[in-house]
Amino acid sequence: MPHLAILGLQWGDEGKGKIVDLLSKNYDYVVRFHGGANAGHTIVVKGEKTVLHTIPSGVLNNKNCVVANGVVFDLEDFNNELEQLNNKGIKPKLFISDKANLVMPYHKLIDKLENIVGTTGRGIGPCYADKIARKGIRISDLTDENIFRKKLQIQLHEKNLLFRKIYKIRPLNFKEIFNKYVKLSKIIKPYVCNTAELLQSAINNNKKILFEGAQGALLDIDHGTYPYVTSSNCSVGAVYTGTGVSPKPLKLLGVLKAYTTRVGLGPFPTELKDETGNKIREIGHEYGATTGRARRCGWFDAVLSKQTIGLNGIDEIAITKLDVLGFLDKIKICIAYKNNKPVYEELDGWKKDISGIKNFNQLPENAKRYVKRISQLLKKSISIVSVGPERGQTIFVK
Ligand code: IMP
Repeated sequence: MPHLAILGLQWGDEGKGKIVDLLSKNYDYVVRFHGGANAGHTIVVKGEKTVLHTIPSGVLNNKNCVVANGVVFDLEDFNNELEQLNNKGIKPKLFISDKANLVMPYHKLIDKLENIVGTTGRGIGPCYADKIARKGIRISDLTDENIFRKKLQIQLHEKNLLFRKIYKIRPLNFKEIFNKYVKLSKIIKPYVCNTAELLQSAINNNKKILFEGAQGALLDIDHGTYPYVTSSNCSVGAVYTGTGVSPKPLKLLGVLKAYTTRVGLGPFPTELKDETGNKIREIGHEYGATTGRARRCGWFDAVLSKQTIGLNGIDEIAITKLDVLGFLDKIKICIAYKNNKPVYEELDGWKKDISGIKNFNQLPENAKRYVKRISQLLKKSISIVSVGPERGQTIFVK
């Protein structure tokens, strides 16, 4: 199958960025199709860390990077990200959809004021709400200053009523936002195009596309742990609606962390609110790449993972951060639920540093057993095991 989608199967932060970076060398285009700067995709190359929020993780391999229509686009944040890359000597080959909706300053303010589910505060929910209510401002609106002015005036009038009357705070200044966005729009101008046509034509010309998912299926607006979810579909359907390409033969690689994490509020049945959870957080550096918030940590949940595999029709699995569990005497996997409580199976730990191992057969027996047990429970083959943040710390399982 020529094309690949990489999707998170938990509550995000599965390590998709590393896997996308690693596999993107085999593809011509890498495409973000939903979410926005709430994502924080971390890539480490030769000890140097790059955190990407909007620009696809194929950028370090100099791939064509597409930000498609399903993404909500934060111009200010994008500008910072582009600067960060330029400072590293990287000039991304970028294509940004003219149909993507803009995250505006009032979206970020509303997100902070209304935040009841522990969002990233990046304005994602309010921006998608305006998009669906047909009140959004799109990137294409920036091409005509008069249109942009009119739309911003209407939106800001409405939002400022909310700020003044309900939240009793100072309204936002039209001129400031207008001038800033007109200035920033010049930076993206060279990259803006019809990305649906671009990708359709690339597919017709036998180019290979990698679709980069953000967040995870348990945060999906329809299928996740609603209302403790993000505001986009994070599962396979979004690949098509978020890009404008038709369901072509697509290989689906699901990414699962060897344990579970969640940032923000919401149910998490296998959460560890004890020393073990704290130790996993410290060893796994489980702090949000976007917000710096401490992530909640817990055991691997095979029941939920099986559901999200079904939801996406996943073909193969990548397991990440297996090395983090190397300190544990015993490791638990949730294999069922009884009376709404997780039922655990306990496996012996391997008590070794495995971060330098390059071959599956060289892993300690108990580490192999853990990976094989997950594969057996999920009824899926595991093709990649990641044992550290660097590209080289990856085991391709035959
Ligand atoms: P929002 O996407 O900022 O609206 O946040 C909604 C929920 O999704 C919150 O629980 C966030 O912590 C979570 N979330 C959003 N983006 C990510 C991500 O990239 N990784 C992990 N959690 C995320």
